[in-house]
Amino acid sequence: MHHFLPGLRFLLADNNSGFLHITLALLGRRRLFFDSASYAANLPQWRKPASIDPALLEYPTDATRDIQPIPCMSHNDEWRSVPLFEALHYGCTGVEADVWQVDGEDELFVGHSQTALTRNRTFRSLYLNPLEELLDSMNPDTGPSDPSRHGVFDVDPEQTLVLLVDFKTDGEALFPLVSSQLETLRRKNYLTYWDGFAMHSRAITVVGTGNAPFNLIIANQTYRDIFFDAPLDLLWEPEEGDPTSTPPLPHHPSLFGGSGQGNTGIEHITSPADFNATNSYYASLSFTSSIGFPWTGRLTASQLALIRGQIRGAKRRGLKARYWSTPDWPTSLRNYIWETVMLEGADVLNVDDLRSAAALDWRDGVGHYLLDA
Ligand SMILES: *[C@@H]1O[C@H](CO)[C@@H](O)[C@H](O)[C@H]1NC(C)=O
Ligand SMILES: *[C@@H]1O[C@H](CO)[C@@H](O)[C@H](O)[C@H]1NC(C)=O
Ligand SMILES: *[C@@H]1O[C@H](CO)[C@@H](O)[C@H](O)[C@H]1NC(C)=O
Repeated sequence: MHHFLPGLRFLLADNNSGFLHITLALLGRRRLFFDSASYAANLPQWRKPASIDPALLEYPTDATRDIQPIPCMSHNDEWRSVPLFEALHYGCTGVEADVWQVDGEDELFVGHSQTALTRNRTFRSLYLNPLEELLDSMNPDTGPSDPSRHGVFDVDPEQTLVLLVDFKTDGEALFPLVSSQLETLRRKNYLTYWDGFAMHSRAITVVGTGNAPFNLIIANQTYRDIFFDAPLDLLWEPEEGDPTSTPPLPHHPSLFGGSGQGNTGIEHITSPADFNATNSYYASLSFTSSIGFPWTGRLTASQLALIRGQIRGAKRRGLKARYWSTPDWPTSLRNYIWETVMLEGADVLNVDDLRSAAALDWRDGVGHYLLDA
């Protein structure tokens, strides 16, 4: 079964699986809850980044040498005081930061909602500075020009970490700020970039979502290190050699003058071919608003055809398919959806709740799904 499930390999394989790993991480985390002070005291120096407020070290990441990367995207929920470390701790290959500009300030604040913002939770303090220090410590002997530099995962140094930046306020105003705050990581050659001809994968791949403006992302023809989160519904394609299959009408918000993920700054695009790997990294979609809620508990044949065509279109362009806003209740339905989209070839799971992702038994629903398909 595993040969056609690359994305799910970590989650389904036996002993060295991500499933087991995140279960163990959960057990490890329990230890952190009860003994965080002595745990932090025993960390090697390089994992106590100096620029971070000591309060943020409450939940330090485990040594990344034991961490198996798994294809999940972790979000800065309120209950996570150190969202980056927590995501790394679980092995998530992506971390999502909601970024806000407030009152025209240059500082960027991070929080799930505007009321959750505080002065010391910034894009720099929670994400950029710790990443820089982590990477500096993992690349002690290599200069910035050395392309063999290490990513954040020791077991897989080539694995990039996606920093998904959700632009919560005006995209045109945020873009130059986000870009300038990335300057240090850029200068140290930690950012994946496109040079006008080819992509160069590095430790961190920055992807802009929410109000991230496509027009500004593509403005520079010779250098890009912020990539777009393309509208997955527009990429739908029929199976090759099946000209009879009709494309479903995309429920695309921009057709009705919308904004948000995949919609900002795309007024001038002429065709879905304009989204490709030179400007985009993910292609994403809100599951509930575009595929619909599976009221019967199972996806219908036409919902599956929609998903398959979307993933097919993303893959042909070299983009990674991502579904967000998947139903999270009831749990069995959530598991079924997660399993289905991963089995169909989606590249990353949006996991808002790492704790329950770690606790659930993924293997349960897979058999059901295969029987139904
Ligand atoms: C943020 O600052 C407030 C007040 O200055 C402080 O009470 C709180 O512990 C700080 N939080 C973090 C996560 O550093
Ligand atoms: C594109 O980005 C590169 C690298 O930052 C910069 O040197 C160049 O001036 C930019 N080009 C334009 C047209 O902005
Ligand atoms: C990618 O899309 C851009 C438009 O956004 C287009 O100009 C370019 O030719 C495309 N590149 C490839 C390799 O398809």
